[in-house]
Amino acid sequence: MPLVLFFLLTLMGLRAPSPLRVEHLTCEDLVDPLGLGEARPRLSWQLVASGRDVMQTAYEIRAAATKEGLKKKGTLLWSSGKVAGDRSVYVPYGGPAPATGERVWWQVRVWDNHGHHSPWSAPAWWEAGVMDTSFWKASWIEAEVEEDLTRSQPAHMFRKDFSLPRRVVRARAYVTAHGLYELCLNGRKAGDDLFTPGWTSYHHRLQYQVYDVTSLLHQGENTVAALVGDGWYRGNFPFKGNRNTYGQHLALLVQLEILLDDGTTRRIVTDGTWRSSNEGPVRASDIYNGETWDGRRDDPSWKRPGYDDSSWHGVRVKHYPYGVLTATEGLPVRRVEEIVPVKIWVSEAGDTLVDMGQNMVGWVRLKARGPAGTTIVLRHGEVLDRDGNLYTLNLRSARQTDTVILAGRDEETFEPHFTFHGFRYVEVHGYPGPLTPDRITGIVIHSAFRPAGHFACSDTLVNRLQHNIVWGMKGNFLDVPTDCPQRDERLGWTGDAQVFAPTACFLGQVAPFYRKWMKDFIVDQQKEGQVPYVIPDVLSKNGKGASAAAGWADAAVIIPWHLYVSYGDRKILEQQYGSMKRWVEYQRRRAGDSYLWNKDFTFGDWLAFNTQRSDYPGATTDKDFICQVYFARSTLLLSRAAAVLGKKEDAAFYRDLYDKVREAFLREFVTPNGRLSPNTQTAYVQALDLGLLPGELRDTAAARLAADVRRFGHLTTGFLGAYLINPVLSDHGYHDLACQLLMRKKYPSWLYPVTKGATTIWERWDGIRPDGSFQDPGMNSFNHYAYGAIGDWLYRYVAGINPDERQPGYKHILLHPRPAKPLSWAEASHETPYGRVALRWEQHDSTMTLTATIPCNTTATLILPGAAGKKVMCDGEPVEKSKGWKYGVTGKEMVLELGSGVYRFEY
Ligand code: BGC
Repeated sequence: MPLVLFFLLTLMGLRAPSPLRVEHLTCEDLVDPLGLGEARPRLSWQLVASGRDVMQTAYEIRAAATKEGLKKKGTLLWSSGKVAGDRSVYVPYGGPAPATGERVWWQVRVWDNHGHHSPWSAPAWWEAGVMDTSFWKASWIEAEVEEDLTRSQPAHMFRKDFSLPRRVVRARAYVTAHGLYELCLNGRKAGDDLFTPGWTSYHHRLQYQVYDVTSLLHQGENTVAALVGDGWYRGNFPFKGNRNTYGQHLALLVQLEILLDDGTTRRIVTDGTWRSSNEGPVRASDIYNGETWDGRRDDPSWKRPGYDDSSWHGVRVKHYPYGVLTATEGLPVRRVEEIVPVKIWVSEAGDTLVDMGQNMVGWVRLKARGPAGTTIVLRHGEVLDRDGNLYTLNLRSARQTDTVILAGRDEETFEPHFTFHGFRYVEVHGYPGPLTPDRITGIVIHSAFRPAGHFACSDTLVNRLQHNIVWGMKGNFLDVPTDCPQRDERLGWTGDAQVFAPTACFLGQVAPFYRKWMKDFIVDQQKEGQVPYVIPDVLSKNGKGASAAAGWADAAVIIPWHLYVSYGDRKILEQQYGSMKRWVEYQRRRAGDSYLWNKDFTFGDWLAFNTQRSDYPGATTDKDFICQVYFARSTLLLSRAAAVLGKKEDAAFYRDLYDKVREAFLREFVTPNGRLSPNTQTAYVQALDLGLLPGELRDTAAARLAADVRRFGHLTTGFLGAYLINPVLSDHGYHDLACQLLMRKKYPSWLYPVTKGATTIWERWDGIRPDGSFQDPGMNSFNHYAYGAIGDWLYRYVAGINPDERQPGYKHILLHPRPAKPLSWAEASHETPYGRVALRWEQHDSTMTLTATIPCNTTATLILPGAAGKKVMCDGEPVEKSKGWKYGVTGKEMVLELGSGVYRFEY
């Protein structure tokens, strides 16, 4: 190309694209976040380039207050200058901290090790939330209405009219509530988020949301309106008969900041001039019990100007402290997908039943036409009983019932506001006319994580299991990680979350979700360091009790560590370090000089296989043993976290403590021949996984474990053993046995529920027994993700994608597929912070084909199983001839050190 033409095209921006691009810019793992609480957030980006071995060698970030401002040096807020290095994830913003509501635009360009440099990326932005509590000028308001605080109450409505003299250039709403709220401006809902303000330990941390409401306001008359329901704050929660957990009164806080086209500003705040009512259509709304909607009371004009609110009540102004208000950090709950029913029929008992074909969480959207006062009742349940009727005993006291009363208009559409149901089936009573699939739609809601993981293999039942794991996650990611979404529980059980977190980190981009939840560990942790069973803690009394259970409380340490390994998020360790340490210190004090911690109540290996066979007793693992292994685990991880954070003394201290805890463990629970007491699968699995046994006993212990599995013919593990048994077997030479456990179809096994038609993971191995009867209704959830933790093994071992904790966040990736019969192929992919990693293996006769995709700016170690001594081809060339990467042989395997790119091996 002639030089002149080159420059001309460059000037016009038409030059052939550079082979290197920067994409997927995120700020604190979020795309263009509005209302960020961080003054100096961390920025991440991904390199996109074809070819192999692409590493970033330098980057440059620039930031400005406007998009246009990015282009001129003089208008930049900050420029990093060209910074040498390969850091592209969690790079701290170094410019001046934006003030409340200020936006920072930023973009980045990079250089690579092939002499390329990228163009500037497309600009991204974040907007600062409330950076200073003096910002708050709004007052808390409560409705001046009479209420019966002993039972579910109608939702409260708040409204205020105001006028704006000129065109609106920019408007933001800052909003929160005691209860759950929906904000509307001129009749239109602000944002798509549901269950706002989310669930946190409200007395310590109450999130506010920020909405861009520019397009909802206009010159002239406007109305701001809000509907507030009971929610977690004061509804029936937790368990049966409890109410008013956080307080008795619903309240609202709204501050609108409006910029007009003449440069002047207007501020509209909640204050004594607002009007309130509890006479609206939402007559009752409870998280567990459902919503009652009376369409006859629905006059949507209350949300718009010109509505006569003279019959409404005033409001009480309250002075609740602003100090607990905190920016929204998690992932908003949203409507994520819609499901068309697979079947609608009339049961033996004469009820109309609707099958969504999927155990899901959310609600139904119902369309109906009928005379005013027609009452339609929607009962939700997960399964049908043997006679084909809706089974609801396992919901315990949760009614999961929506009641819709028609207004008698043309066509009415109902969706509840402040409740959610865990269900596959809906029983519909009183529907006027025939109910057809176009009249009833399943609305699936959950914390809107970006999907990040895929797994598939040659076995359809295993693929179904994977489907069920994904749906178990969807169903239990509702602002906090919950145990179950259907019965009168739905709590942030820490043990369940702890075992499932690695699987969740593979399946979704969930760093912000957990970062938010972990902050509630800090504030809800008890005085001496005990970690509550559930977070947010709604079970302890006055900050006492319901805490310190081994395997549950340890979530305080284990989850931050997983987040660090999965995302390379060092800040989560900084944020949680104090809490992690307080928990280990609690155990240390309780253990005293014996270094045996066994003084607190624990749930043990929850829901383990309960053997009644007298010839093989002993599937139940001693609680003392469980306590000790988790004491050891938390101590070890704490020492590692300390090392990562450069806290050398702590690292050494807790490493030493770990040695003592381990010695105490060996003295107490291990015979010199490597037999464990208790002699159970969970015991071996826990000890081996953590490396608690001395080297010479490991093989014997693993052999005992394998023998026990063979003796039973199946696993006997509960919550605390099941997530580890397969990785431990695979790591100790029994991968085939692990695969047999996976493939087993009879109870107890992962596939047994699949053969029974499960579409989610069950709480119990036999929620529905082989004879079709149900397990104990007192505890029989059909959507409990804990046993879905097998996912982690499927992705890391069967497919073979592993993070490397020495270079966390997949900066270095360990690719170690482990083919095993009867699978002939398996594949997985994961959206790492650097981009997509993928691995697929396929074995036909004696030929293995393996394709690996490694993202830019990372390196990977790939282990080719069984390749030693074979002729290994890479993209048609013998491996020995492929230049630029190292390879070697260990045992039966070939080990390759690879850079980014796509590689296809055959041998
Ligand atoms: C929950 C759990 C939880 C357990 C504690 C149950 O009611 O559903 O999954 O971990 O209690 O043992």
